Amino acid sequence: MESQDTYWSDLAALAWQVELGADEATLETPVDRYTLDPRPTAPAPPAVAEARTTPPPIPQVQDVDPVAVAQAAADAATDLPALARAMEAFELCDLKKGARSFAFADGQPAARVMIVGEAPGREEDQQGKPFVGQAGQLLNRMFGAIGLARDAEDAAQALYITNVLPWRPPANRAPEAAEIAMMLPFLQRHIVLANPDLVVLMGNTPCQAILQKTGITRLRGHWTEALGRPVMPMLHPAYLLRQPAAKREAWADLLDIQARLTP
Ligand code: URA
Repeated sequence: MESQDTYWSDLAALAWQVELGADEATLETPVDRYTLDPRPTAPAPPAVAEARTTPPPIPQVQDVDPVAVAQAAADAATDLPALARAMEAFELCDLKKGARSFAFADGQPAARVMIVGEAPGREEDQQGKPFVGQAGQLLNRMFGAIGLARDAEDAAQALYITNVLPWRPPANRAPEAAEIAMMLPFLQRHIVLANPDLVVLMGNTPCQAILQKTGITRLRGHWTEALGRPVMPMLHPAYLLRQPAAKREAWADLLDIQARLTP
């Protein structure tokens, strides 16, 4: 009876030690493991086995041309929803990692006028739509003054609005040339698929992307052409908020746009 008691209590003690992490029994006599022979090393596996288990090399990031990838994805999109999906799935622009949302476009895709801005700011990132913050409210008032609105149902009075970049740059920093270049194929396809009668470029970044030119104070107010349609560079509404005196030039450009739309 006594020996059976010992058996169960010893077993319980052993189980408790295993639970604590003990994985080896100590012996009555100590063993100096430093003096033991090292374990024989395992023989090298045959080369054939190695070749079979070695995975193929992973392409390095520098092997991928983001502009070519973007171009192929943009070319494959045959309508705006497909373009939005292709753009959102594009993984080679690091801005995507830091942005809260993807801001593709707002307004009426059939609008005669398409506006291209720079990139989402804080409010745009929160709402996933371009030009919804303070600059966007000024943009609404500016175009409202010539009878155009993003929520108009009739394409003749409507606006369609997008940005060069669909993801917010960290702390609203200026977009980098490489970011603009890799998102440009999507923007060009966006304009072709929306097929507006004219395009308004808001500030330097869309001029850099579409016209490969900067210097908005010189460019503004001069019609040019891109992707087979008239293009008007204008001062960005965020600039007009900081420099209200420049609203005079913006008003002149708006009247020019209105005249161009009038049959
Ligand atoms: N500025 C832009 O250029 N685009 C926006 O969407 C908001 C602010």
